[in-house]
Amino acid sequence: MGITRRLGNDDHDMEIAARMLRDGEVVAFPTETVYGLGADASNPAGIERIYEAKGRPRHNPLIVHVSDLDMARRMAEFNQNAELVAARFWPGPLTVLLPKKADAGLAPAVTAGLANVAIRFPSSQVAQRLIQAVRFPVAAPSANLSGKISTTRFAQVVRQLDSRIAGIIQDDACDHGLESTILSLIGAPTILRQGSVPQESLEELLGPMGEASEALVISAPGQLRSHYAPDAAVWIEIDQPTANMIWVGFGPRCDGCHLTLSASGDLEEAARSLYAIMVEADVLAKAGDVIGFASVPMYGLGRAINDRLRRAAAPRST
Ligand code: TXA
Ligand code: MG
Repeated sequence: MGITRRLGNDDHDMEIAARMLRDGEVVAFPTETVYGLGADASNPAGIERIYEAKGRPRHNPLIVHVSDLDMARRMAEFNQNAELVAARFWPGPLTVLLPKKADAGLAPAVTAGLANVAIRFPSSQVAQRLIQAVRFPVAAPSANLSGKISTTRFAQVVRQLDSRIAGIIQDDACDHGLESTILSLIGAPTILRQGSVPQESLEELLGPMGEASEALVISAPGQLRSHYAPDAAVWIEIDQPTANMIWVGFGPRCDGCHLTLSASGDLEEAARSLYAIMVEADVLAKAGDVIGFASVPMYGLGRAINDRLRRAAAPRST
């Protein structure tokens, strides 16, 4: 494409970013989860540029970001569960799937032609200021090349997307470090993607939730194949390193580990550092080395961490 402008988070640079969005350009911006790759959700040309910049399959829809509840209500049919969840978890790292209103004003490609829309109200100050400045919903997938590691640091966004987008806002405040949890509120509440809000917190409000049915997961097509993948092969549940392995520990048992998700076994720390550690491990790995991750427990944020690790370890299609 051309030159990608590096932008700060001061008012002057934020206005440049807002102007880019108004012009149908794509801007990467930090959120409390990961960096997003934003464009005006009503502008077909802007949305096309997102798919282009990421190399994303056109059947994989985008989350729409808002800076207040009214913006969300204009796009989707809110039901009682949506009201409950929004009051408890917004702004924050939770995305809800709801029926799209006929006059939602979204470019059709945002929802990949589906009847439902995924909406998120981020708590990140920079994200909120950007959306407030433009006063329209901003469609944004994670700011990475399709299938590659999501970005939580400015330098990683530059590495993957430099010269493919108009601008990148620098502000390394991705405190959660893992994508939002995606909750379908169409029919019985169902988690479509584990993420930064643990299932247990949602169940406290909504009661026990089963696993997403195959049909629902397919309605979130980005959930399927290898994803979040470093270049080196990834093995998981490795509690004893072998030769030619960059071993990433979790918890105090770390004899001979090269890196650790959290030496104290803290799941929040592990979530926050996961993607940066994947990148670091990839740098350490020599040709033929594999990256081995220690077991992470399957509760709280551990569910989302294990989900990302399993996808990183999934067979590569390309
Ligand atoms: O934390 C996050 O959610 C980040 C930040 C930038 O907000 N965004 C993010 O977007 O992770 P992305 O595109 O990497 O993942 C969104 C997932 C995809 O798997 C997509 O298939 C699903 O949400 N999705 C989006 N809209 C949908 C819809 N209308 N129906 C079903 N699934 C949808
Ligand atoms: Mg993504």
